[in-house]
Amino acid sequence: MSSASFTSNSSPSEKIAEPENDAGAEQTRRTLLLGALVTTACLGCSTQARAGEDPPGSDERPQKGDLLVFSEGDQEGKLVAAADLPVGGPPVHAWPKDPKTSVVRSASRLNEILVIRLDPAELDEKTRARAVDGIIAYSAICAHAGCPVTAWVKSDVGEKEVFKCVCHNSEYDPRAGAQVVFGPAPRRLAALPLELADGSLSVAGNFIGKVGGAQPG
Ligand code: FES
Repeated sequence: MSSASFTSNSSPSEKIAEPENDAGAEQTRRTLLLGALVTTACLGCSTQARAGEDPPGSDERPQKGDLLVFSEGDQEGKLVAAADLPVGGPPVHAWPKDPKTSVVRSASRLNEILVIRLDPAELDEKTRARAVDGIIAYSAICAHAGCPVTAWVKSDVGEKEVFKCVCHNSEYDPRAGAQVVFGPAPRRLAALPLELADGSLSVAGNFIGKVGGAQPG
């Protein structure tokens, strides 16, 4: 009974429904087309958003006059002041920041810097000449295969603490121009001259030495 009732009612309703199905299919096509257009537009938006994340100058190497801001931790984005650096380390990881445009030059990992304050009496002559109140800065990119230099630990070959890249254990002595004291790195870290004005650190010149790894990891 119910089956008969279903059969008898279905044919007319199918006939009536056909135009609605066509309309529904057309609607579906329009919806899909609209969705594709929206998706394309959104892809454009996201490209613009990505472009917006890397403003002009953000991948340029540090320039004279750039300020330094923390690149990680609780104070990320805040200016690095001399008072933030305890004598004897550890180092602060920082990005250069254009003071005119406020652009942080973080679009290139080669721009990350290690800033450390040491007893000036411990520095060799060349390093002391670049330092301000014992504060010195180096590229944070290992000269071996380009890993970030992340550790401040006692050297494997001495009593003093050194910068260490844990990828292949290269060690650099910041007191002596970040020369290599252990591991496979073929050369020292690039140095970045600094100035100090009103307690804030700024870049005094271009990197001295080559930035980045000598070979692929
Ligand atoms: S990349 Fe740093 S030691 Fe190899």
